[in-house]
Amino acid sequence: MEAYKPEILFLKQEDVIKAGLLDMKQILEITEKTFKMIGEGKVLNPTKVFMGMPDNENWQSYCMSMPAYIGGEFDVAGFKWAAESMFNATQEGMPYGVDVVILTNPKTVYPKAILDGTITTAMRTSAAAGVMAKYNARKNSKVAALIGAGVIGRTMIMSMMEAVPSLEEIRIVDLDLSKAEGLAKEFEGKFNVVPMNDTKAAVTGADLVVTETTSRKDFVKKEWLVKNATVIQMEAHSFEPDVLLTADKVFLDNWAQMSHLDNITVAQLYKAGKLNKEDIVEMPDMVCGKAPSRESDDEFVFCGTAGVGAVDITIANQMYENAKKMGIGQKLMLWDNPLWV
Ligand SMILES: NC(=O)c1ccc[n+]([C@@H]2O[C@H](COP(=O)([O-])OP(=O)(O)OC[C@H]3O[C@@H](n4cnc5c(N)ncnc54)[C@H](O)[C@@H]3O)[C@@H](O)[C@H]2O)c1
Repeated sequence: MEAYKPEILFLKQEDVIKAGLLDMKQILEITEKTFKMIGEGKVLNPTKVFMGMPDNENWQSYCMSMPAYIGGEFDVAGFKWAAESMFNATQEGMPYGVDVVILTNPKTVYPKAILDGTITTAMRTSAAAGVMAKYNARKNSKVAALIGAGVIGRTMIMSMMEAVPSLEEIRIVDLDLSKAEGLAKEFEGKFNVVPMNDTKAAVTGADLVVTETTSRKDFVKKEWLVKNATVIQMEAHSFEPDVLLTADKVFLDNWAQMSHLDNITVAQLYKAGKLNKEDIVEMPDMVCGKAPSRESDDEFVFCGTAGVGAVDITIANQMYENAKKMGIGQKLMLWDNPLWV
């Protein structure tokens, strides 16, 4: 019994960062490996459950439960409680997204770690886009336009710098120019990041366009985009539906999830009978080679993600392993002696 202590390692945000979470190269590798394992059938990733508050349609905040089990070399179960708040977005110093991850030993079902998942979300979200871009950006892509200079905008710059080495310029756009300028300054000396507040101007001539805004409406028009661009949508609404519907190839991280989440473009097109599973390729199939990614420089490629919990769990598990080796974190016990057994 002593071997099965219900000991939990608690890692606050600063601990997870010390454990290596900001290393985008490592996060891209884990993300790609996780999608490959999903494609190989080694992962259980039930559709996440979304709870908008005060109601799903007009949510002001939401919580979402995201369980996953990853077999193979990981052999870990876990759960991310992901949340976003419109209130936070109006406050100085409060993140819009706030997440917690619990890792569980699949044999004993004892929780083994509780971690801040907020930065994990930001890293893995942009890493998923990075993997999409690695497989689908046109060869020799030089210019990327990233729309939205918030938390995900920052990690998106990190991800695109790493995933698309041919890039020479990243345009970062926000309605609030000072946010774009702030990010451009952060990357000064590391990459050529150009701040802008005009989406049309930014996407004009861009080889790669990624949107990570909090917009509730579509605002990127098809005619603004380069004919053989790669575009990646990370949020509910950004590109007009025509951008997806007329693409030569469409890649989504998870069809079951994206076709059923309320209020997102993919689900709306599915419900309207305009988009079906046969029209798209799931990202895990692309990463593990069951379906081709971009096949020619002439194609227009659309990619979309809503986030896959399995990636949060593999990244959190790696941070947990790193933290144990480094002796970081606070140990908690679920009980001293279980009362009713
Ligand atoms: N796909 C995924 O896995 C995943 C995961 C996490 C977050 N997200 C989504 O990413 C988006 C960004 O999240 P965040 O945490 O970075 O939010 P944030 O509030 O930190 O940043 C969002 C930024 O978008 C800007 N913006 C809003 N509308 C815009 C427009 N029309 N044009 C240009 N800029 C605009 C805002 O000014 C803000 O700076 C959210 O919609 C969130 O739901 C997706």
